[in-house]
Parts: sequence; structure tokens; C-alpha cells
Amino acid sequence: MTPKSFLLDDDVHGYLLDHSDPLDAVQQGLIDETEALGGMSSMQIAPEQGTFMTMLTRLMGVSSAIEIGTFTGYSALAIARGLPPGGRLLCCDVSPEWTDIAKRYWDRAGIADRIDLRLGPALGTLQALPLDPAYELAFVDADKTGYPAYVEELYPRLRTNGLIVIDNTLRGGRVLPGREQDDEDRMMGAFNHALAVDQRFDTVLLPLADGLTFLRKR
Ligand SMILES: C[S@@+](CC[C@H](N)C(=O)[O-])C[C@H]1O[C@@H](n2cnc3c(N)ncnc32)[C@H](O)[C@@H]1O
Repeated sequence: MTPKSFLLDDDVHGYLLDHSDPLDAVQQGLIDETEALGGMSSMQIAPEQGTFMTMLTRLMGVSSAIEIGTFTGYSALAIARGLPPGGRLLCCDVSPEWTDIAKRYWDRAGIADRIDLRLGPALGTLQALPLDPAYELAFVDADKTGYPAYVEELYPRLRTNGLIVIDNTLRGGRVLPGREQDDEDRMMGAFNHALAVDQRFDTVLLPLADGLTFLRKR
């Protein structure tokens, strides 16, 4: 499996997978079916990231979570598996084609009843949600230029001490000044800078996968 954690070589990536919870048949099947889609399979989160997100969901005792950007459902599977019985995950995506794959694997994993999938632009879905702080965990992994607006809409809907996890904040290292290759790299660099000084959150950017930023609501 090609590492999606861009700082790792194949051997180190294989080693850490061999020394973490093994992937089960549902996870492996979803990785294989997504891989068969071709280049777009790189959008799927790294397997070690999924295992970590399940642990994080359990550690935080999350019972209400939201995901922006579902694709074929691997990260949603990871979060949903960390929820207690009765826990809920709201998933936002625009693609019926990709999320149909997701639904088959959620069924297979026996967690489909925990997931509410909303098809449509995520910003509209978010804006239509009640303002009452409801969510303990949010995972943001959709169109990169939408990230600042997603954080603004998630903030009032997140409980104090709730966590927003944001994917791809390193963009393979291209967020560094002088290494940017496109507008999305430049946008993410500016976004990272804004988050680092945002007094509403405790912020840490970790070199996991393609860069994961954790925002704890103060
Ligand atoms: C990087 S992929 C998500 C990967 C997924 N988290 C996983 O683990 O496989 C990004 C997803 O965001 C979705 N997306 C793009 N623009 C969107 C928007 N405006 N609203 C909602 N979803 C969007 C795409 O359809 C795609 O499935």
C-alpha cells in the first residue's frame, strides 16, 4: 500500500501498520474497492489515520460527530466505530456515486444505523443545522477552499472542549512559503496561519498523514 502519510517511506509505513490494530475485512475491502477507482483513491484517509480516529472518538467519549467530506466512507467508518451504541455521525458529501460505495461498507460493518448522510454542498447543510452546541467531534476533509467557512459554521455548533480535526493541512509540505504550487496551497498556508493565532481554540498541527490540525474549542 502506498503511504498516504507523506513523510513516511514504504518500509516505515508497513512497519507501523504491522504494529497497530490490524485492518479487518471490511476496512481492507473498502481500501481495495477505492483503490480500483484509480488516482482519486488518494483522497481516502490513511489507514493509520483511521485507526487513530477510532481511538480518539472512543477516548473523548464522543456520541455526536460530524464529517465534512465522506467519499467512499473510510473516515466515517473509523469515527462511527468509535461511537457508543446510540451515537450519531452526520456525514456531508456531494457525490451519490462515491457515498453509495460507503453505504455498502457501513452496512457490512453493522454501523449504518449510526450514520446520517446528507448529500449536497456541505456549507448549506451546515448552515441549516441548529445553532445549539451539539457536536463533540468534527472531521473536515472536503474541498480545501471551503475550510475557513466550515470552521466558522462548525464553531457555534461545537461544544466547549469539542474538537475539530482538519485534514491535509500540510499538503505534502507545499504550504511552506516558497513551496506553494497552486492557489489551494497558498490558501491552506494562510488558513494555517490564521488558526495558529485564533484565540477561540487550542491548536496543534501534527505530521500525521498529510498534516492533521486539531482545534479544541476553548
Ligand atoms: C478527500 S475526499 C474525503 C475522503 C474521506 N474522508 C475518506 O476517508 O475517504 C473529499 C470529499 O469531499 C467531497 N466534497 C467536495 N466538495 C464538497 C462540498 N462542497 N460539499 C460536500 N462535500 C464535498 C467530495 O465529493 C469528496 O468525496
